[in-house]
Amino acid sequence: MCGIAGYIGERDAFRVVFEMLGRLEYRGYDSAGVACINKNAIHITKDKGKVAEVEKEAAYADSKVAIAHTRWATHGVPSRKNAHPHKDCKGKIAVVHNGIIENFEGLRARLVKRGHKFLSETDTEVIPHLIEEEYKDGGGTEAAFVSAIKKLGGSFAVAMLSDKENNIFIARHESPLIVGIGNGENFVASDIPALLPLTKKVIVLDDGEYGIVGKQKVVIKKINSGRVVNKKPKTINWSMAQAEKGGFEHFMIKEIHEEPQAVKNAIAERTDIEKIAKKLAKFPRIYFVACGTASYAGRLGRGVLEHFGVPSNAEIGSEFRYGTSKTIDKNCAVILVSQSGETADTIAAAKEAKKNGAYVVGVVNVLGSTLTGICDDVIDIGAGPEIAVASTKAYVGQITSLTLLGLFIAKEKGKLDVVDLNKLISKLGGVPEKISHVIGDKEKIKRLAEKYRNVKEFFYIGRGLNYPNALEGALKLKEISYVHAEAYPAGELKHGPLALLEKGVVVFALVPNDHLAKKMESNVQEAKSRNAEIAVVSEGGDIKVPWVDPLLSPLLYVVPLHLFAYYLSVSKGLDPDKPRNLAKSVTVE
Ligand code: F6R
Repeated sequence: MCGIAGYIGERDAFRVVFEMLGRLEYRGYDSAGVACINKNAIHITKDKGKVAEVEKEAAYADSKVAIAHTRWATHGVPSRKNAHPHKDCKGKIAVVHNGIIENFEGLRARLVKRGHKFLSETDTEVIPHLIEEEYKDGGGTEAAFVSAIKKLGGSFAVAMLSDKENNIFIARHESPLIVGIGNGENFVASDIPALLPLTKKVIVLDDGEYGIVGKQKVVIKKINSGRVVNKKPKTINWSMAQAEKGGFEHFMIKEIHEEPQAVKNAIAERTDIEKIAKKLAKFPRIYFVACGTASYAGRLGRGVLEHFGVPSNAEIGSEFRYGTSKTIDKNCAVILVSQSGETADTIAAAKEAKKNGAYVVGVVNVLGSTLTGICDDVIDIGAGPEIAVASTKAYVGQITSLTLLGLFIAKEKGKLDVVDLNKLISKLGGVPEKISHVIGDKEKIKRLAEKYRNVKEFFYIGRGLNYPNALEGALKLKEISYVHAEAYPAGELKHGPLALLEKGVVVFALVPNDHLAKKMESNVQEAKSRNAEIAVVSEGGDIKVPWVDPLLSPLLYVVPLHLFAYYLSVSKGLDPDKPRNLAKSVTVE
């Protein structure tokens, strides 16, 4: 949700930050802008549009220090005036911001009374004006920056340039910000992909910290006390190739092709998963909490535990934080699932659970993300950078980790013996090849997408462990193809939604060879009798999936749904990597 980039060093800062922004565009892409210092003056170039469009129009300014932003609008429509960076009245301070300043209305009213002129509708614009106001105290840039930051309520990752300084000032509270450490140069970014070709060494800012990033030196301090925090840089193990399209037309299709590897990478964490399962098994109440696609993975986690008779719950982050979290105590374990580790509602849920004494575990793809700092233990799904806004390989990694976790918890609880556990793990090892087989059939799925290109209404039905996949299939279609799709537990269709089925409606039915297959077949017949068009995903269905142990079927059955959503989007001439109105990291409530 908004991407921030910054550079200071000997290179052409303007070019470097635009290039970094290009790799952060999945965080927002409705407008972009850059501020740099040239001949002791701040130059801002910004506009509505994607990074490449804005860069094409941008007036080049020779500079060695710059900050930049790609926006996902919260306050104020996408427009030139609302695009970041924002400046103070005299144009001597420029600020980019990710997050929401919740007290901006009060701050703005006070600043207006003092004669400040605002040019945008954004919450962000109060920041440069506040800094300008604080400068009047004569304490210097750092003092003005920190006093202004202390007045902000809500969430923020901020980067600031002042024409009086040859440093970038940064601060964070509940929105991600990292510093890339180079040789005689340093970088600021919202997320790792921005830094991949530039440096592998990063310092992750924690909540309540600010920093002064110079060419040779980076100093991090506490906002409240001013105390210096000594932070050792961490080394990133992601490669640049992972963050490039590598010959594919879109990141999404590349990432679907990486689903077999995502299963392998998740299995590689089995030792950690087993250790954490031992701790989790001691808790009488286990909750899975997450948002969007990750919440469907959480439901799958619950399904696996229930399969073995282990009670558990699955909740959506935004509901859990204000509701169920009140019932959480030290007898609870809460498992937060998040690709980015930056989702605001998931983070808030983790904090609430921790405050109430629960054992808190993160299942995360981005190590070093905010969530990993909050959790007692972390399971790394290891899927590698996921750039397309719609999550695919990370979902497959999440459900692999959660299936393994469920198996180990069941073993600990005496519900699964070691021989059966090992058999299942060995079958899991065979899943990547079977996924590759499904992907090998992509031309058939592409033809199906072309056939259904003009369909206006889709239903996805599944039971048990494949109901979360039905939700996932429907969400993917909505977000990248802008077509209405609903998911239902197949048994629920007749309790209302069946009234919507008629000629022209397509129903995807997930029918693995399990104890519910016969019931699914009856539900398919019910839909057929209402003249709906049916696409059965099964061993012998319209979309064929190889045999797999029913417990592992979700790992395979989701793959054609990802492929279908991708091809439908492409057949409509849309950009599946950058769906309208969305951003990858949802760092606001
Ligand atoms: C859908 C999608 C979103 C995310 C959700 C949570 O394709 O990607 O629904 O799953 O925003 O994001 P993370 O997993 O980063 O917490």
